[in-house]
Amino acid sequence: MARVWSLLFIWIAILSCYSSTANADQQSEVEGFFSQGGHTNNWAVLVCTSRFWFNYRHVANTLSMYRTVKRLGIPDSNIILMLADDVSCNARNKYPATVYNNAARFLDLYGDNVEVDYRGYEVTVENFIRMLTGRVSPDTPRSKRLLSDDRSNILVYMTGHGGDEFLKFQDAEEISAYDLADAFKQMSEKKRYNEIFFMIDTCQANTMYSKFDSPNILATGSSELGESSFSHHTDYEIGVAVIDSYTYYNLEFLENIDMTSNKTLQDLFGTYDPVQISSHPGIRSDLFHRPLDKVKVTDFFGNVQNVELTRYRYPLVEHDSWTEEVKTTTTTTTTTTIYF
Ligand SMILES: *[C@@H]1O[C@H](CO)[C@@H](O)[C@H](O)[C@H]1NC(C)=O
Repeated sequence: MARVWSLLFIWIAILSCYSSTANADQQSEVEGFFSQGGHTNNWAVLVCTSRFWFNYRHVANTLSMYRTVKRLGIPDSNIILMLADDVSCNARNKYPATVYNNAARFLDLYGDNVEVDYRGYEVTVENFIRMLTGRVSPDTPRSKRLLSDDRSNILVYMTGHGGDEFLKFQDAEEISAYDLADAFKQMSEKKRYNEIFFMIDTCQANTMYSKFDSPNILATGSSELGESSFSHHTDYEIGVAVIDSYTYYNLEFLENIDMTSNKTLQDLFGTYDPVQISSHPGIRSDLFHRPLDKVKVTDFFGNVQNVELTRYRYPLVEHDSWTEEVKTTTTTTTTTTIYF
């Protein structure tokens, strides 16, 4: 009997040793994975709050950001695009169904692959705050919901007409810096984000993030209190300004980034030149916990890519029997549950 017990004991010892090694391996992989900022998924909320043809540039600003985050890997399912006007279909648009951000008109931003989630009069302060905080009515379609969690990094980009501590929506209402800070606070309490990167291009933009008081939010804006945000240039064929200066120079940097880039937000902020931009961009990082030279641009403008993990999950081995195939599939499923 004693022998049986000791054999059993040895077995338990072996098993627990094996499983703790496996756990340690998994643990270190998980840690390596999370050291990139602790997120497992990315979302982008891109908002143009202006109506009317002469605000063409605000739509172009937003569509430029949309194109950038898609190019860097955020899928449409994780992008909430809000456009208060549809300049592409405006009767005054000499090039119907297009939106350009440059007078050279190299690239049609509207193209044939744009999913607008909130358009026209749907772009309201209430809808925006409900979307952020997740307090939407049950019949709200998936495309209009921010389905983020405490592992999500969220890029929030806004552009339109603003002033001291407010941003106009349409021509009718405005969101205040307090409303926005409160929405982010609710998001924090409801564990709807891991980190937020807030970027805003409007007059007196930097006042919009002055009331934030929730953790892990990094913010930047185009201009300080009392300062306008200027357009970059006009397309005289279309007859309107086609992009704002601050967004233009952000894009100039982002255009040189690809999914594998190690460029950081410190690198991006380092390019901000008030003379070139014609206003003083601001950066607020006191609520943020990581040093900016460790924050990759793709932590917010891209999607979580982990080639190592993918290889680990789908080993390219030849299966010599059905049993092994089943076993591999099971492992895959388990691992997927752990990471996503
Ligand atoms: C980024 O950094 C990693 C790790 O140091 C390196 O392997 C990779 O080649 C770098 N990527 C680029 C595009 O420089």
